[in-house]
Amino acid sequence: MKKYLIIMVALVVGAFSACATPQGDQNSTPKQTNILVAYFSWGGTTKKVAEEIASHTGADLFRIEPVQAYPTEYRPCTEVARKERDENARPTIKGKIENIDKYDVIFIGCPVWWHTAPMIISTFAESYDLRGKTIVPFCTYAETYRDETLQKIVELTPHTRHLKGFGTTGSTADVKAWLEDIDVLKTPAEQEMINLSRQKW
Ligand SMILES: Cc1cc2nc3c(=O)[nH]c(=O)nc-3n(C[C@H](O)[C@H](O)[C@H](O)COP(=O)(O)O)c2cc1C
Repeated sequence: MKKYLIIMVALVVGAFSACATPQGDQNSTPKQTNILVAYFSWGGTTKKVAEEIASHTGADLFRIEPVQAYPTEYRPCTEVARKERDENARPTIKGKIENIDKYDVIFIGCPVWWHTAPMIISTFAESYDLRGKTIVPFCTYAETYRDETLQKIVELTPHTRHLKGFGTTGSTADVKAWLEDIDVLKTPAEQEMINLSRQKW
């Protein structure tokens, strides 16, 4: 029964998409894209933003985690982070995205660490062949260096297309409007189809 429901929803969504998206429009992102949100988060703020993005786009989530965990205390963590930055380190990442080829659009997000992206983002960007993909940077920060951090993610992903990035001090209030602006928002019907297809049966 569920199978038939999914097929019906797919047909309806397909019909709507065909009407809404003129063929050959190079300026807008196709709606039927596979999206991944890859993020690093030490304290949970960036994780919250990543989950908000996923909830509006139907994206898969990948948490970038170091093999060697960062100190849980703030000051020791800042010391490790500063040393990594000064030494241009490449902290090893736990786990791997096996099927990166299936994603057309990849959001890459992190907190601002010492005026830039944490070095683990460099490890991430260098671990995959991202050529030809669409990369969307985002970050969270306490006070400043938002633009520098977004730009760093852009520099770490050459030979890709970039959509406008987003930075926040923690609020997720503007996330939906930004996703709408860059044209990756899924319609409620599309989200419903994604949710149904993810159900175990
Ligand atoms: C090691 C370290 C360095 C930081 N450097 C900056 C900085 O340069 N500029 C800034 O505005 N915030 C800085 N912050 C604050 C974080 O960017 C901010 O709290 C962020 O939202 C935390 O995200 P998270 O909870 O996902 O780790 C720093 C925090 C840490 C732990």
